[in-house]
Amino acid sequence: MDGLYPMIFKRKSFRKFDDSLSLSSEELSRVESQLQRIEPLVDDIRIKLRIVKREDTTCKRGEYCLLAYSEKKDNYLMNIGYVLEQLDLWMASQNIGTCWYGSGKPREMQLDGLDFIIMLALGKAHESEFRQDCTKARRKELKDIWTGEYLMDVARAVRYAPSAFNTQPWRVFSSPDSLKVSCSTKGHFIFIPKDKRMDYAFMDMGIFLCFMDEALKHNGYGFSRVLAAKHEENNSLIPIADYMLKA
Ligand SMILES: Cc1cc2nc3c(=O)[nH]c(=O)nc-3n(C[C@H](O)[C@H](O)[C@H](O)COP(=O)(O)O)c2cc1C
Repeated sequence: MDGLYPMIFKRKSFRKFDDSLSLSSEELSRVESQLQRIEPLVDDIRIKLRIVKREDTTCKRGEYCLLAYSEKKDNYLMNIGYVLEQLDLWMASQNIGTCWYGSGKPREMQLDGLDFIIMLALGKAHESEFRQDCTKARRKELKDIWTGEYLMDVARAVRYAPSAFNTQPWRVFSSPDSLKVSCSTKGHFIFIPKDKRMDYAFMDMGIFLCFMDEALKHNGYGFSRVLAAKHEENNSLIPIADYMLKA
């Protein structure tokens, strides 16, 4: 998806929606067709995305919910994070507010043999309700997430990626020709229910890779990306992906 980069600085989590606004049928069909344009992180994982009225879920906010269902294969959580984040950014470009909603449940926990993974709440919003000054967003200092002084233009954008409980588990080691992305399992982590921690962490990392790809493309860096083969969940720093930069 092109043109999403500026949305990195505009998007935010909507916890209140203006109930006097609603999506027109044209907007709703634009959303539906956008669901077909997402680029997966992993090609061979079957997923389905579905828009339902909020009342068809346990979600308490927004007009609609975007439900994500997936086959459970290696990297499926990162794949869902990567895919839904593209839509999160695109919704901001349409002045549709969103909120990742980890605790929400839909009526249908299965769809065509795929399991429900997570939802985004969404609803029409005013442009003025979006983030006006990203420097006010609560984020870790760059030095806490980025090692090495390379590609700081990219670092300054990707730090705004959203994450469950704002944990920001990403850590990057930068060198002149590569970026190594890992997931930290320390810190704020303790606030998340134990059985959800790793699921959220991997979705967060997929979100981060979406931001990373957009920021690299926007800044004119050619790259190839390789996902780590196996995730050792007992590590305090789990390797996630290597980016090889092209001259
Ligand atoms: C996987 C995931 C699950 C989330 N679940 C919730 C949730 O259940 N309720 C909520 O209010 N926010 C939820 N959030 C939103 C985060 O709290 C939010 O993205 C983070 O605090 C950063 O703030 P921002 O999105 O406004 O930049 C979730 C975010 C992610 C990525």
